[in-house]
Amino acid sequence: MGIAPYVGGKSKAKEGVRVVKLSSNETPLGPSPKARDAYEAAAKYLHRYPDGTATLLREAIAKTYSLPLENLVCGNGSDELIGLLVHAYAGQGDEVLISEHGFLMYQIYAQSFGAVTVKAPEKDLRTDVDAMLARLTPKTKIVFVANPNNPTGTYITNDEMARLHAGLPSHVILAIDGAYTEYADKPDYATGLELAQTSRNVVCLRTFSKIYGLSALRLGWMYAPHAIADAINRIRSPFNVSAAAIAAGTAAVADTAYVDHSRAFNNKWVAWLTHELNNIGLTVVPSIANFVLVKFPCDKHNSSAANAYMTELGLIPREVGNYGLPEYLRISIGLEEDNRAVVQALTDFMKS
Ligand SMILES: Cc1ncc(COP(=O)(O)O)c(C=O)c1O
Repeated sequence: MGIAPYVGGKSKAKEGVRVVKLSSNETPLGPSPKARDAYEAAAKYLHRYPDGTATLLREAIAKTYSLPLENLVCGNGSDELIGLLVHAYAGQGDEVLISEHGFLMYQIYAQSFGAVTVKAPEKDLRTDVDAMLARLTPKTKIVFVANPNNPTGTYITNDEMARLHAGLPSHVILAIDGAYTEYADKPDYATGLELAQTSRNVVCLRTFSKIYGLSALRLGWMYAPHAIADAINRIRSPFNVSAAAIAAGTAAVADTAYVDHSRAFNNKWVAWLTHELNNIGLTVVPSIANFVLVKFPCDKHNSSAANAYMTELGLIPREVGNYGLPEYLRISIGLEEDNRAVVQALTDFMKS
């Protein structure tokens, strides 16, 4: 009962207003049309159990990302895989280490399995490797780093990740959560897959909910060293991924041109939104994901007034007070007209 329930992004505004949901970092472009077709085709086989090993999907992931099939485990959203990892490796008396504004589900799962979450302070809203390493104890079992992080949108470089890994004892698992990794296009950024393939204690978590546009189907995957993949396969439920998710995910991951298109669209509008919001005097945390974290003043133009103002217009951002960021709102990238509407609304709000 001590767990504060996870509250998803809001999706309602007052009646008669067109709702633009910018609260859950979903892609406004939707999935690849090939994924939608595959999903529809799966409707013919609803009376059959899915393949419990999700082999077609894992083969498609293995091909697109040049990874060995046997190290891939799929889950009912990456949330499920986060939970399975904590279930397998951290329990009563153990510690799970995260950064100050790390994704909330790490803490929720840690608490649900009796482990304690230790948070390391961030510097400029970025994971601070030294602060993380300083908080390691003999009880630490898993270190979670979302890279890029939600809700900040910031990232740590390949070198910083390597330094964090080098400072961990070999029995501590480094879980690199790449929910937004497909959007990243910085030369000093790396997905972590290379590190995972050359280590025995690094796992990479990925989702189909963001750039692949399949949030509704609940689908994620994990690259894990053999021993960890084996443990997770023993405790997951036998048919944890639905046939529709397997079908759609297989088509989506093969459609790399669609992913490239979605990335280019997103990154253009992240840069535009950042620039325009800076122009009206708002501080925007540099983001390499599909959302921006915007800081509001402490006067009448504060974040809750901005949230109310936007919501009245049907533009729904995410309040992030539960992440320890009460002065901020997180706003997902929308279609061109949505992004323009956000800038117009916040321009009017700041003048009001
Ligand atoms: C960093 C991070 N990890 C994991 C998830 C969970 O994604 P999924 O929909 O695959 O459960 C999210 C969703 O917002 C996220 O932001």
